[in-house]
Amino acid sequence: MQSEKNAMVVYPCSRLAGEISLQGAKNSVLPIMAAAVANRGVTVLYNCPEIADVYTMAALLRECGCVVDFKNHVMTIDAKNADNGLLHSSDSTRMRASILLMGSCLGRFGQFSMPSPGGCAIGKRPVNFHVDAMNSLGASVCENEDGVSGNVSKGGLIGGRITLPFPSVGATQNVLLAASCASGGTELMNASKEPEIWDLCDYLRMLGADIQGERTGHIRIVPKSSYEKDVSFVVPADRIVAGTILTAVAGTTGNVYINNIDCDRIECVISLLKARTDSSGRGVILNIDRRAELDCVISTGPFPEFPTDMQSIFLALMAVSGGFCIMEENIFDTRFNAAYELNRLGADIRTEGKLAYIYGRRKLHGGTVTAGDLRGGAALVVAGLFADESVMVRQCHYIHRGYENLAGDLCRLGAVITENKEE
Ligand code: UD1
Repeated sequence: MQSEKNAMVVYPCSRLAGEISLQGAKNSVLPIMAAAVANRGVTVLYNCPEIADVYTMAALLRECGCVVDFKNHVMTIDAKNADNGLLHSSDSTRMRASILLMGSCLGRFGQFSMPSPGGCAIGKRPVNFHVDAMNSLGASVCENEDGVSGNVSKGGLIGGRITLPFPSVGATQNVLLAASCASGGTELMNASKEPEIWDLCDYLRMLGADIQGERTGHIRIVPKSSYEKDVSFVVPADRIVAGTILTAVAGTTGNVYINNIDCDRIECVISLLKARTDSSGRGVILNIDRRAELDCVISTGPFPEFPTDMQSIFLALMAVSGGFCIMEENIFDTRFNAAYELNRLGADIRTEGKLAYIYGRRKLHGGTVTAGDLRGGAALVVAGLFADESVMVRQCHYIHRGYENLAGDLCRLGAVITENKEE
């Protein structure tokens, strides 16, 4: 099959084997980059993933006046002379995480504006929880057709008690950022408990904030009056990339050891796939000689439930697992785009509202499919390994938003995938 620009060709694969270290986590590094704006010092991030969303966030930090240097997975953010929170460029519309600059910009500069945040088309993604939370901390923020904007009066942000209507990951991160720059403590109830929240709290503690309870859903934040510290932080491995690799192995069979994933972060995927954690708890092994047979109902939900980011990738496995499965998507309302593309490869997936019914086959056939979002694109690459002929996946720029080198990682484990990157 002749590859096109911005496409991968995935060849059938019967076994993956070897040891692999994973890239840093996209969903951890983006909020930490946003937090670095609040620090009148230098932040060095190690194991920083070289992915499109990180480059976009770096461009936004430069718009705020930060000096950002990024090479060989090391990012240096010098925010000493950062001077504004008014984002005008279209960079902010490219990804949802740009809204995370709101908390630190309001806290440090007393002002923030950006065009409406974009991101993958996976359903409605409002920011009302973020806006309401900022206003509870004393800001005047509003959202209209031009975007999100607001400011803080001379007295600055003021700590308070906030209960989120839903444990939103992004809103929890924005509250952590704003509350860390407020005067007085903040209590946040019904907070998200995702590992990416743990990482942001670790970083903010390094700067000097006193934060407790991030694994419980009830977070207490006691800020420092200002942050001016040179710090370095190692970005933990990406749990969704880990889940993607494990799902690929579960469908192809093989013996793979991921040597740098904190197993607490993907416990539910590890147990569904009957993988094992190594004795240190810092690695996971999946060694199987028969394809995983799934006959189950899986529902996505806030951590520690099954992650919505793994949903489409699991659909690819369920499609060839022989059994009958139901996937319930509880976080986003239109996140089954990958199902339609998987059906083009011979899968039998029927969707109805938030449910997908998967009538598992043993094999998929070859063909050409199109990625429509980041995780859906990864699902199509994984599905290509399970097909009996080659599969071309178009629009791979979506995959590069979050995976540094998915094709390369899988090829190191024995897959054959060619990629013709966009110029
Ligand atoms: C979500 C996922 C996160 C994932 C990311 C990218 C959860 C709980 N969150 O985070 O794990 O990595 O997508 O796929 O699984 N909502 C509102 N108003 C708001 C904010 C959110 O109504 O202001 C709703 C959303 O529409 C959604 C739910 O709350 O139904 C959870 O959203 P949230 O966690 O905020 O989304 P992300 O931070 O993007």
